[in-house]
Amino acid sequence: MRYNPLRDPADRRLARLAGPSALVIFGVTGDLARKKLIPAIYDLAAGGLLHPGFSVVGYGRRPWSDEQFQEEVAQSVHSHAREAFDERVFERLRAGLRFVEGSFSEPEGFSTLATVLNELAHTRGTGHNHAYYLSIPPGQFPVVTQRLEEAGLAEDAGGAWRRVIVEKPFGSDEKTAAELNLALERVFKPESVFRIDHYLGKETVQNLLALRFANSMYEPIWNAHYVDHVQITMAEEIGVGSRAGYYDGIGAARDVIQNHLLQLLALTAMEEPGTLGADDVRVEKEKVLAAVAPIAHPPSSSARGQYLGGWQGGAAVAGYLDEDGIDHSSRTETYAALRLEVNTRRWQGVPFYLRTGKRLGRRVTEVAVVFKDSPGHLFPEIAHGEVGQNALVIRVQPDEGVTMRFASKVPGPDMQVRNVTMDFGYGHAFTETSPEAYERLILDVLRGDAPLFPRQREVELSWHILDPVLAHWEEQGTPEGYLPGTWGPASADQLLLRDNRVWRRP
Ligand code: BG6
Repeated sequence: MRYNPLRDPADRRLARLAGPSALVIFGVTGDLARKKLIPAIYDLAAGGLLHPGFSVVGYGRRPWSDEQFQEEVAQSVHSHAREAFDERVFERLRAGLRFVEGSFSEPEGFSTLATVLNELAHTRGTGHNHAYYLSIPPGQFPVVTQRLEEAGLAEDAGGAWRRVIVEKPFGSDEKTAAELNLALERVFKPESVFRIDHYLGKETVQNLLALRFANSMYEPIWNAHYVDHVQITMAEEIGVGSRAGYYDGIGAARDVIQNHLLQLLALTAMEEPGTLGADDVRVEKEKVLAAVAPIAHPPSSSARGQYLGGWQGGAAVAGYLDEDGIDHSSRTETYAALRLEVNTRRWQGVPFYLRTGKRLGRRVTEVAVVFKDSPGHLFPEIAHGEVGQNALVIRVQPDEGVTMRFASKVPGPDMQVRNVTMDFGYGHAFTETSPEAYERLILDVLRGDAPLFPRQREVELSWHILDPVLAHWEEQGTPEGYLPGTWGPASADQLLLRDNRVWRRP
């Protein structure tokens, strides 16, 4: 059927520009703001996607003047922006940069903030539309939102919108996630709360929707009749680095499975949404998360590990327990793997294996859909398991693209088959470079476009899946050690061997 614009007045191909607004960043002196948020804002400005009066207010305890803040912003743009530094773009942005010195709990800072935001509405035409980015520990969310409310900055007023942006961790289990949400939604309307899962801002993750629903050839085989299992991997080479304060006590499962990996699972397994609008997409993801079978026996459906000291890439690296700021008796896992099943007709009996870890063989995130063997009576290689199963691999990063693995005849007079791959790489297919995840997400908040932000129900359903495993690990002793540069602990291999399968070596 041809495209009919009358059927779809909200055509998502049109240029997506942000209207008049100001972004307030709490925790602006932190790493996230310096390395991701500010560079993303600059890149949006360089792409002409922001309103000319767009303004940024940094809020923090440092005694900075506006000029000092502007200098800091310039530094972080120089060091981390995707686009080259352009004096004209930066000067336009600089005119709307303000700093407010204040604590998160005292009302004084918030009344200064109100004055500054008012000034920006008059001088820059921000229209009193404000987004508040809480790049601060979640324990501070309740007091900051309360202060915003008291200063009259939280409620939509006179046609102006007020939105709040929060970063994970959204609680540490289902119960605390619900409590945290109560504190946020006491002040902001549910549709004004934007929960960041930066994986959803990645082009390759959004491409899962395009791959599945803009094509007709995958859908007929995207089910338990043809799919043997799915492997979702997020591996990192780096260790905990300077993030001990955040990571220790949280660990791999809370850090990335609860959010990024379960979101990847939901996008892989969900049904086609009615539209690409927020409600339709979120509802389909929620149905998948709600259909994940409760883990009845965590020891046989999960594995965890902690990296030891050793060698990686030719250099000696410290074990987790010897990293700066880590408690020597810490039981925090730096590797986690799960075996899940999705109890829907489409996926009945198909295991989804999820794994993540630090200090692994190489940095790679991918979703691999592995298909059942062909009967193989013509090809002994298949019957003997010498040729791998067909696989469609969505390479999320770093080598963004899609790979299809299948068997092909080896040239020669005999009939032998071998695995070959067919590749689509973003770098080869498109001249456009991919925006950073935070560019897309900040733009979407300013536009009030919510499909890429998980709803609270998704957050709680994800904790519901994870909670029994976390409780089981809590009762266990220290996680199993694994050497840096390997693919995790032996128990993770066992998890698949029990099903007669092996992890892919990406
Ligand atoms: C974050 C985690 O969400 O994702 C980090 O807190 C992890 O521990 C990071 O290193 C990885 O992000 P990316 O985009 O580099 O895959």
